[in-house]
Amino acid sequence: MQSTAWAPPAIAHAQRMRAFRDVNRGSQQTPSAIPRFEIDSDPGGMVASYQPGGTTIAKNNPFFQNLGTNGRTCFTCHQPQTGWAISAQSAQSRFDQTGSADPLFRLVDGATCPSDDVSSPTAQRKAYLLLLEKGLFRIGLAMPANTQFEVTAVDDPYNCTTNPITGLISPTAGIVSVYRRPLPSTNLNFLSTIMWDGREPTLAHQALDATLTHAQGNNPGPTTAQQNQIVAFESGVYTAQIFDNDAHKLLAPPSSVTVTKPIPESSPLQCADTTIEQTGGPHALAQLAQDFFIGINDPLGQNPCATPFTSNIFDLYEGWSNLARNDPETAHRKSIERGEELFNTRPIVITGVAGLNDVLHETQITGTCGTCHDAPNVGDHSVKAPLNIGVTDANPGPIGLDISGLPVFTLTCTSGPLAGQIFHTTDPGRALISGNCADIGKTKGPILRGLAARAPYFHNGSAATLMGALNFYNDRFNIGFTDQEKQDLVNFLEAL
Ligand code: HEC
Ligand code: HEC
Repeated sequence: MQSTAWAPPAIAHAQRMRAFRDVNRGSQQTPSAIPRFEIDSDPGGMVASYQPGGTTIAKNNPFFQNLGTNGRTCFTCHQPQTGWAISAQSAQSRFDQTGSADPLFRLVDGATCPSDDVSSPTAQRKAYLLLLEKGLFRIGLAMPANTQFEVTAVDDPYNCTTNPITGLISPTAGIVSVYRRPLPSTNLNFLSTIMWDGREPTLAHQALDATLTHAQGNNPGPTTAQQNQIVAFESGVYTAQIFDNDAHKLLAPPSSVTVTKPIPESSPLQCADTTIEQTGGPHALAQLAQDFFIGINDPLGQNPCATPFTSNIFDLYEGWSNLARNDPETAHRKSIERGEELFNTRPIVITGVAGLNDVLHETQITGTCGTCHDAPNVGDHSVKAPLNIGVTDANPGPIGLDISGLPVFTLTCTSGPLAGQIFHTTDPGRALISGNCADIGKTKGPILRGLAARAPYFHNGSAATLMGALNFYNDRFNIGFTDQEKQDLVNFLEAL
């Protein structure tokens, strides 16, 4: 890995600049450029984005340009200080600063329904409530042509699961409205699937669809050249927390990691070892991207190199395991290191997860956090693996998560292996794409870097904090974390 000697001066500079920045500010104006190395304050400290290819001039890249009809750009919903997504807090500040003038607040999908009343400030606050409180956007999806289920009831406070054009309230026809968090438009080279439900085939196609829907673009939307420029920009950005309010610089002494990866174009496939060094911050991530491949560290036999799975997903903070001092900075660093160890090793008995227990025909699987978050030092799933861990459940809902304000769909399976079963869900997830009952409520495991910048968590914003997310896991899988262990894990997740 390249020397990290750059880092202390850059961070010292950022610390000086920090006094002039407002942690709570909502939006960045579209900047003239995204520098090669950008540092922004976030509630946990500072988040950094690194572009190995150098500075991007905004006016030269359509990611920052108004390609639709409602004033929105990709940058409206994907900004660096919120981990290239937006946080609920930033949506609040933008509303407080501009009323609903900021292009974030557009009826098409910022509001709970395009037909919402926005004639007064009170009405606007109500219409944009899910965005303001949970950072959620409405995703209107057409029912697939062939489904193994029928939507037999909808408890929808917004009357938006219908065809907004005809106004017909027909649960089985037209558009199903679900409410989801933006995913970060960064670290994209580590993705195995695009969108919460994996519905986009490529990033270029995603850019096209995002323009037509969020920005209400006219057909045919951005040109192929524009799509490619957007993809070139967003795929060239790496983002991670770089500075923690308590642990300070997150650049622990690097750990050496050996990756066994396919040799390109070898036939039959051959693999070779390479060794890289890992620590916190986005520079190490950019190094790591060269070694990522679909199936890396897959536990279920989908690794093309057949290298055995290791539950040691993160190797960022091992260098802090034997610190001698015990001042507050050091104590926090040790806690982060313990949290990493818990993530890597704490046994979790996985039960009732559709996509895992049913597929493997095992009612109990003893795993770890990394059974599902298996991509080394990134934490998404390294193969397409939609799972239902319970976040989408309704009646009863997921213990400890706040699913208030979300619609509840009752799906009755009419054909296929699950015929006769009834599901209550706040988001049918992958099933709205595949039409299959087995996919009801399934979502992807997202990348776990830059988390501190983009609360709330889970696709439906149901965990206001990382502690909330951990409490959910603790209850859902009976893990038995102590309070200290929870705090260590939260400190670790905040340092990603
Ligand atoms: C109005 C807000 C909004 C705008 C504008 C917007 N996005 Fe998004 N973006 C979202 C939401 C919400 C999701 C997740 C939706 C889902 O999974 O169903 C998302 C998901 C993504 C993802 C998927 C990342 C992953 O991990 O799968 C990418 C990439 C992305 N957006 C890029 C873009 C680009 C490029 C543009 C501009 C052409 C854009 N977005 C405009 C809200 C927005
Ligand atoms: C059985 C598979 C599985 C296990 C085990 C698991 N996760 Fe997850 N994780 C997921 C899935 C799937 C999601 C996305 C759920 C959603 O939002 O619908 C997720 C989401 C998350 C998120 C939210 C990320 C975001 O951007 O909102 C965090 C944080 C997280 N997991 C941390 C952990 C930790 C820590 C552990 C171990 C204590 C763990 N996970 C164990 C599958 C798993």
